[in-house]
Amino acid sequence: MKPIKVGVLGLGTVGGGTVNVLKRNALEIARRAGRDIVITHASAKDLSRQRICDTQGINLTEDPFAVVNNPEIDIVLELIGGYGLAKDLVLQAIANGKHVVTANKALIALHGNEIFEAATAKGVMVAFEAAVAGGIPIIKAIREGLSGNQIEWLAGIINGTGNFILTEMRDKGRDFADVLAEAQALGYAEADPTFDVEGIDAGHKLTILASIAFGIPLQFDKVYTEGITQITRIDVEFAEELGYRIKHLGIARKRPEGIELRVHPTLIPERRLIANVDGVKNAVLVYGDAVGPTLYYGSGAGAEPTASAVVADVIDVVRALTSDPENRVPHLAFQASSIQELPVLAQEQFVTAYYLRLTAEDKPGVLAEVTKILAAHNISIEAIIQKEPHSDKSTLPVIMLTQKTLEQEMNAAIIEIEALPTISGQISRIRLETLG
Ligand code: HSE
Repeated sequence: MKPIKVGVLGLGTVGGGTVNVLKRNALEIARRAGRDIVITHASAKDLSRQRICDTQGINLTEDPFAVVNNPEIDIVLELIGGYGLAKDLVLQAIANGKHVVTANKALIALHGNEIFEAATAKGVMVAFEAAVAGGIPIIKAIREGLSGNQIEWLAGIINGTGNFILTEMRDKGRDFADVLAEAQALGYAEADPTFDVEGIDAGHKLTILASIAFGIPLQFDKVYTEGITQITRIDVEFAEELGYRIKHLGIARKRPEGIELRVHPTLIPERRLIANVDGVKNAVLVYGDAVGPTLYYGSGAGAEPTASAVVADVIDVVRALTSDPENRVPHLAFQASSIQELPVLAQEQFVTAYYLRLTAEDKPGVLAEVTKILAAHNISIEAIIQKEPHSDKSTLPVIMLTQKTLEQEMNAAIIEIEALPTISGQISRIRLETLG
């Protein structure tokens, strides 16, 4: 059989890793795919730059449209990132009847609905396993492996850079900026690293996971995102004393009222496996009604782990080439005609437990006032600890864990507590999930 010809857009970290894996494992890949897969063309923004891959035998250009418009090419790998040029290239490739494999979570989260529609109309495939959790085959697991289940919720550490920063801060007391610079040097971080630390990248990935879990359209604009920049060492230490770890989680939960889509720092019990996922590693916990909890773990960023997912998609596309386009695995797991417009809940409607840290005056009756406000908002306290007084001797930190409550009740209670003359500064509030 004729070899499949692949064109690669972008030869940076992911593109370079993909070229290396496709070349190094060419024989095994051909045994799996049933035919040879050859990279014939590739584009890069600046061909004079040093590469991590060997481009011998590949026709190189600085014009990515020359690749997507080349009639020889069967599959285009979009490994540029971003959603301006990348979107134009992907839509052009589809219009030209080419299959597309992409690692671009931002592109899929923001423009996936349009891209899949164009691909379906043209009968071509768009595969995007590498867009979520790097090398972990989480899309395949949910879309195919768990397809007999009703997915109730999922929670994931889906940004390697953020997890790397939190881990280094906790274990080594390192500085935020210093760890971020290392993540950038290692090729983990996004071109704009605020995407990593402010939860935007995790929000892109959560958008995709929620769609394939619940059969809803991709809707990044409805995801609540909160980053890790406000996390202090003191909260990390108090959380540990109470038996919790702080992780930056993406959470999607289906409730009778609608879907919760949220990314934020979260306390989770340290005995949970996912609490022990450290460094650049990612993990996604998925709860299906039939199977119960399942956990997927591995490298969420980096050249070859991401390439592992890209190449698996290429092999899937090659294997499916002969199948009837109507009977391929649907892009978003559910048949396009069965995608449901379920309501996505506003932040005020989230239901979660909380860790609160407040600075209180060291005198009788202060805690009674605080607990009275919480009770008035129907918020039950799970635990309360009063720590040693601060160096001023007149105030002390108070840590509280609450039971689950509606977020709007907690917002209102926090405003009232912060207004008490005996409470100083802002309350540090971190959501808490038992993930049981
Ligand atoms: N910046 C991303 C991360 C890369 O750190 O997880 C993988 O998507």
